[in-house]
Amino acid sequence: MARNLTPITDKEAAAALQKTIAQVEINLPLYTHQCQNNSSVNNIYPTCANNKWTTGFWPGEIWLAFERTGRPCFEAAGQTLVESFVDRIENRIEIDTHDLGFMYSPSCVAAYKLTGNERAKAAALKAADHLITRFHEKGQFLQAWGKTGDAEYRLFIIDCLLNLPLLYWASEVTGDANYAKIAQSHITTCLKNSFRADGSVHHTFFMHPDGTPSHGATCQGYSDDSFWARGQAWGIYGSILSYRYTKEEKYQKTFETALRFYLSHLPEDMVPFWDMLFTDGSDEPRDSSSAAIVACGLLEAKKYATPEKAAEYETLARQMLQSLSKNYAVPAPVPGAGQLLHGTYNKHTLYNTCVSEGIDECTSWGDYYYMEALTRLVNPAWNLYW
Ligand code: GLY
Repeated sequence: MARNLTPITDKEAAAALQKTIAQVEINLPLYTHQCQNNSSVNNIYPTCANNKWTTGFWPGEIWLAFERTGRPCFEAAGQTLVESFVDRIENRIEIDTHDLGFMYSPSCVAAYKLTGNERAKAAALKAADHLITRFHEKGQFLQAWGKTGDAEYRLFIIDCLLNLPLLYWASEVTGDANYAKIAQSHITTCLKNSFRADGSVHHTFFMHPDGTPSHGATCQGYSDDSFWARGQAWGIYGSILSYRYTKEEKYQKTFETALRFYLSHLPEDMVPFWDMLFTDGSDEPRDSSSAAIVACGLLEAKKYATPEKAAEYETLARQMLQSLSKNYAVPAPVPGAGQLLHGTYNKHTLYNTCVSEGIDECTSWGDYYYMEALTRLVNPAWNLYW
């Protein structure tokens, strides 16, 4: 565990953000009327239809570029993509998932917050309405995958913590407390079951038919008892986001224990291997997206921390971002490229259930969270899309 990395300065962060904006601009012709795939292939993103859990991240990058520059080309592309998300929820395209927050917060909530687009607001509210249909009263959780009620999928996953802000936002804009109540019921169940005593997390958690907890497992980590690096990052950022909206002290405590586990399993350059079972000396691939997500969590947590802790969190985030910008960022804009190299989407092992895809590639969420973290440094008053 090294803490020798020089923290990124404001000037370096501004330059790194500028570089990401140049990449977004060069990509606009490719991914305005089609979506960007979840991960790259040989570091270039294929296009795809708006039918994946990841399609909200690219519009999120566009909105971040628009916020920083005010340029109409970004607004126009962001609004075009909003229409694709309106179509997706209205026509119920691949929405049997809890990932509606990942899809609708950085695309439609962002568009509504930045431009007042009422169609974006209505689409995001419809997405929130659909998300709460996935809530199981028995067991008090939001079902992650599959059709609601499908016995094979009586489970939730740690990633869902990033879908909860859509529900907090829906309560804020409608005045209906039910969305936030469901979010809090879900995180209560998640905190009880997904977080192990040492602060590490289970990726997946299965429930019994009567709503009692069954067992933790993994789909995307190395094995059921290992430490999937992105899951740990979702746990870190997700718990502090729920703290932001509720001020429940236990969420902040969870952030802290999950963070300590993460920090104690990092390699020298503070960018984890795809599973934190692996460390320096391993030839396993990294997951740069995990570091970008955690940097966002640290910069959010800093707002609610004591001055000493706030300084520590900020330094850690700046160190991670220095490492990412120096050694993981795409060196110069290329049409179709992402922002961060060396992410890992799914790596199949003998002990997990995922299908290999996007190994040592750019990932759309890694790109987005890298830009978000840089934005947070450059503009500490940044108003979240989450
Ligand atoms: N939410 C799925 C993933 O992080 O890969």
